[in-house]
Amino acid sequence: MTSHRPAAVIVLAAGGGTRMKSATAKVLHRVAGRTLVGHALSAAREAEADHVVVVIRHEREQVAEHVAQLDPQALLADQDDVPGTGRAVECGLAVLPPGLSGTVLVSMGDVPLLSGDTLRTLLEAHTARGSQVTVVTAVPDDPTGYGRILRDGHGRVVGNVEHKDATHDQLRIAEVNTGIYAFEMAALRPALAQIGTENAQGEKYLTDVIGVVHGAGGRVDGHRLDDVWQTAGVNDRVQLAAVGAELNRRIVETWMRAGVTVVDPRTTWIDADVTIGRDVTIYPQTQLYGASTIGNDVVLGPDTTLTDVEIADEASVVRTHGSLAVIGRGASVGPFAYLRPGTLLGADGKIGTFVETKNAEIGAGAKVPHLTYVGDAEIGEGTNIGAGTIFANYDGVQKHRTVVGRHVKTGAHNTFVAPVEIADGAVTGAGTVVRRDVPPGALSVSTGPQRHLTDWVARKRAGSKAAQAAQAAQAADPVRGAAQDSESAGPQR
Ligand code: UD1
Ligand code: MG
Repeated sequence: MTSHRPAAVIVLAAGGGTRMKSATAKVLHRVAGRTLVGHALSAAREAEADHVVVVIRHEREQVAEHVAQLDPQALLADQDDVPGTGRAVECGLAVLPPGLSGTVLVSMGDVPLLSGDTLRTLLEAHTARGSQVTVVTAVPDDPTGYGRILRDGHGRVVGNVEHKDATHDQLRIAEVNTGIYAFEMAALRPALAQIGTENAQGEKYLTDVIGVVHGAGGRVDGHRLDDVWQTAGVNDRVQLAAVGAELNRRIVETWMRAGVTVVDPRTTWIDADVTIGRDVTIYPQTQLYGASTIGNDVVLGPDTTLTDVEIADEASVVRTHGSLAVIGRGASVGPFAYLRPGTLLGADGKIGTFVETKNAEIGAGAKVPHLTYVGDAEIGEGTNIGAGTIFANYDGVQKHRTVVGRHVKTGAHNTFVAPVEIADGAVTGAGTVVRRDVPPGALSVSTGPQRHLTDWVARKRAGSKAAQAAQAAQAADPVRGAAQDSESAGPQR
């Protein structure tokens, strides 16, 4: 009895991909945040195969490195000079433990919508029927280019003919080979050994296994897949975009069914590895990329792009661009915020309007509300940073850190020249340039005294509208108009 796990999945990824016109290997192009081969690998893993093999050749180093990184357990098989999918599978089999028996599934590195579920269903159908070969078939709108499935008078699958080798009559067959199969190892190995390259493309076709096994009296079945998108391959960038859009549509729909309100599914993009909690609302033009994780009751967007950002429950992030940031529970971000890597915003904290943060730990309930750059800093809980503040972290050679304590209140338009510390409970005046550490509870001011040069406008701008206005005001209120503290005004705060 065959086990309900495949002995192996072989992913074919040795093809050239010339139509991508790219320096990057075709299977390394991305949709929904994963490479094409990354999607194939995760479907293979979901099928719980004992072994996963990726067959490579073109741009070998790039692809090998990427596969090793994604799935260190995956086996790599190098295809040799013999071209064709049949040879690719033979090379894949060669890296498996000798004598391995059972079922091997074959899929392709450029078919990113194929799901692990489909592979499992294929395996079940194959096992239940006791087939030697099960080929996944489909009836696409346009069968051009695909291999056509040949059936006998009883509807049994007897072979496959490639488009380029097909007769006029065979080209009218609507059912095509998707290139995805289940094979019994014991039937596959000898069948491959019999196949040559005498065909229009001079390749060793995997599809010939169908006819060979049938001819030898083996059982071959078709497994029809109605969801044609799952078999859509990527050969050029037009198909890459089409497949990417469809995958996104599916991901967004899955999240809506899981309890996420997506106001405009068409302009919402969610990568495959993102996770989202319940009762999240996503406004239009929002993109969630990478391994972003979103808690419950979060409000996102509009116009927000987040990559690898972690957001706790009840936070809101509006018109924001962010990456590698962590947003605490109930915190609020934006509109118009730029969160750079290393931003950590505590619970109920605020990063407000026109604020840029980088490598900045902002404590619980702390607020950076307006027009501010926070770089390489720590801000304690309950602290409020005044509008228009610059954390001057760079001296032209090195980056330095600013530490602002708990429950500090800094004035508007401050500059903190790092390295510097403003201790707990301190206050700074408007316009302060903090160059030295501020002790706990101190008021720090650095602006000069405010001076009034009396009648400066009358002397320097005689006859101007400003001079006339001043003269009228002085006439109306001679006491206020007279110099009170002319040249020697003390600090005005
Ligand atoms: C193949 C099938 C065709 C099917 C179609 C479905 C054959 C002979 N034909 O055709 O019946 O309808 O897929 O999309 O199998 N590859 C290798 N090594 C090679 C050649 C290809 O690893 O020497 C890989 C490619 O990287 C790709 C996959 O196999 O992932 C399919 O190759 P491709 O050249 O696209 O085959 P098709 O001509 O599309
Ligand atoms: Mg193809």
